[in-house]
Amino acid sequence: NLFLKILGKRPDGYHELDTVMAKVDLFDTLRLEVPSQPGLITLRCRWDDPDGLCARSVIPEDERNLVVKAAMALREYVRRPELGIHAQLIKRIPAEAGLGGGSSDAAATLVGLNKIWKLNLPDQSLHEIAASLGSDINFFLSPTSLAVCSGRGERIALVPDFFPFDAVIIKPPGGLSTKEVFSAYHDAHETTSFSSQDLLTHLGGPLSEWSRFLFNSLQAPASACDADVRKILKHLSLLPNTHGIMTGSGSACVAFTSNTEEAIRLAAHLRSQHLGDLYTVRSTL
Ligand code: C5P
Repeated sequence: NLFLKILGKRPDGYHELDTVMAKVDLFDTLRLEVPSQPGLITLRCRWDDPDGLCARSVIPEDERNLVVKAAMALREYVRRPELGIHAQLIKRIPAEAGLGGGSSDAAATLVGLNKIWKLNLPDQSLHEIAASLGSDINFFLSPTSLAVCSGRGERIALVPDFFPFDAVIIKPPGGLSTKEVFSAYHDAHETTSFSSQDLLTHLGGPLSEWSRFLFNSLQAPASACDADVRKILKHLSLLPNTHGIMTGSGSACVAFTSNTEEAIRLAAHLRSQHLGDLYTVRSTL
């Protein structure tokens, strides 16, 4: 999220959002195979971390995992209980980080199973199922790199232009629960008079111009519960030519830079500070 503004709390308990989401080239790998036994939905999951250097949480392989949830929801939607799948997920996107890793896995599951199960469902049906599973999955189903998302996050307005950017993602050892960070938010927390449109208007220009519009309503409540998030954001604020913001409900933070070389240099500096796991990323088309 380059911009995430809470507009208010809704009667259903969710928060009304005005947010700009962007895809970057950090990805998980999902392999889907039809099992010999019909009706069976199974998942095996592992981290792609051969050196064991990153701080990793255990990813559930049962119905708590959005891959399994998405497969079950799709099968229910078409009323075909005999459909089965064996999914293998190789994780690279940190969990409980506000990076939409689980949501992008769910979107990939829906797209993949629609093909493998030869369902030929239109995009609209996949979007309907996506919205029933979570607030961020619709964005990962959408075809563009950048979108303005509203409602609880599930309503997507595509941004046709591509704005390349480089960034370093810093993921502290601990994760944050989306639900808990949203419930820690209250109206007295800092807000902005800017909207997602203000950011989009400036995105084509230099980083020093559009960085003024980076904002996240959840940064204050997340910083209040997580000393590591505070530490990372404080550290980034002291660096020249670097613009840091927390993404989603945290705990990952993103430092935007003007080009790839700066991102690599910044990552090298941050590595020496031991603030968390680091990922140098680019926006994707
Ligand atoms: O929709 P998703 O499962 O990603 O949301 C997780 C939790 O985050 C919700 O149960 C809700 O408590 C909170 N949330 C919210 N407002 C949103 C999105 C999420 O309060 N727009």
